[in-house]
Amino acid sequence: MGKKIIKVGLLGLGTVGAGLIKILQINEEQVTQRAGSKIEIKKILVRDLHRMRGVEVNPGLLTTDPREILDDPEIDIIIELIGGINESRKYIEGALKNKKFVITANKDLMATAGAELLLMAREEGRNIYYEASVGGGIPLIRPLKHSLGANKIIRLLGIINGTTNYILTKMSLDNMDFDAALAEAQAKGFAEQDPANDLEGKDAAYKLCILAGLAFNCKVDFEDIYVQGISGISSRDVFYARELGYDIKLLAIGEELEKGLVLRVHPTLIPLKHPLSAVLYENNALFVVGNAVGEVMFYGLGAGSMPTGSSVAADLIDAVRSINHQVENGIMEVNFQEKPIISMDELPSSFYLRLQAEDQSGVFASLATIFGSENVSLNMILQKHSVEGMAEIVLVTHATAEKNFNLALKRIKQTSAIKKINSVFRVIEK
Ligand code: HSE
Repeated sequence: MGKKIIKVGLLGLGTVGAGLIKILQINEEQVTQRAGSKIEIKKILVRDLHRMRGVEVNPGLLTTDPREILDDPEIDIIIELIGGINESRKYIEGALKNKKFVITANKDLMATAGAELLLMAREEGRNIYYEASVGGGIPLIRPLKHSLGANKIIRLLGIINGTTNYILTKMSLDNMDFDAALAEAQAKGFAEQDPANDLEGKDAAYKLCILAGLAFNCKVDFEDIYVQGISGISSRDVFYARELGYDIKLLAIGEELEKGLVLRVHPTLIPLKHPLSAVLYENNALFVVGNAVGEVMFYGLGAGSMPTGSSVAADLIDAVRSINHQVENGIMEVNFQEKPIISMDELPSSFYLRLQAEDQSGVFASLATIFGSENVSLNMILQKHSVEGMAEIVLVTHATAEKNFNLALKRIKQTSAIKKINSVFRVIEK
């Protein structure tokens, strides 16, 4: 028999905290039934006791002193929704030392210190739940850890940043320019406080650290991920990509090849018929290929008060059930292996290239010669309108080792008839 009431301390009452409290209010009966105990939020740590929060809470629950929560022996679970790294890490370690279960939505912290914290939790006989740290309301952590646990995961392809997906969708479907689309994404509240983390691919790379660690059962360092953001994409690229049968998406990609792992975040042309091409606006998705299950895809809202609150509330149900059934550390995933990382140079990729060249005889021939002599085979080639004697050439290669393509590119840049390399993006066919 479990406890009748489980007491919880909440650290932070921002957007996600407000969503969590609303869910616990509107779905109280269901949550209690599934958890097997009534859940009581006993104390909430806030910075400002008087701020309006968009959710009804008893002001008597609010405190500005973290010790009131971390040192309260009646509190079995703490939920960390503060974000950032140093302060939240200190609180989580303090809670584990005091034998509390921990739930967190903190992507940056789990990406950079998740392995150490999970190890510490195991030593304390407790657990950390972090479903909300990646993909907001989309179940990703549990499926990778449990439901797909018997698979060797071959590949992960993720659209795991809503801001950039919103921008690229607006550029593609509504012909909007980059800055206007970014301003809309910010106004809708998808972007991080510093949108550079979204635009430069850092946010997606943090999420890939967490997902790839689970999928490939290893500890992934942020520095091992190749990261390229979306700021080099112009509406012309989006337009030509569609003409060639592709969409441009910021993809987070994790693959286990014979020699090791490839981890990367970069703008990618994907075929219009790929399921990820249907992931529009702020939606996120993770496409997973397992050696037994085949292809599966998880789709939904990757951020927001209620979706992310829904993941936190599900973790809360699990944590309460663990306490009630005394299976505290039965589902830990800390036996991470070391796996070699393959450099991008070794990787076979297809490329999209857009360049400006003098519109004169022999230009195509010299491009073809350079690619041919570096063993790069061309798949598609377009010449667009010529303006003032300058032609715009767009081409897509077949898959080739990146180092061969880069050698060819270096030679193309030195060709006098080629005036400008506008853009270079990778292409995937499936
Ligand atoms: N800024 C993030 C995004 C929010 O755009 O997806 C969730 O991490």
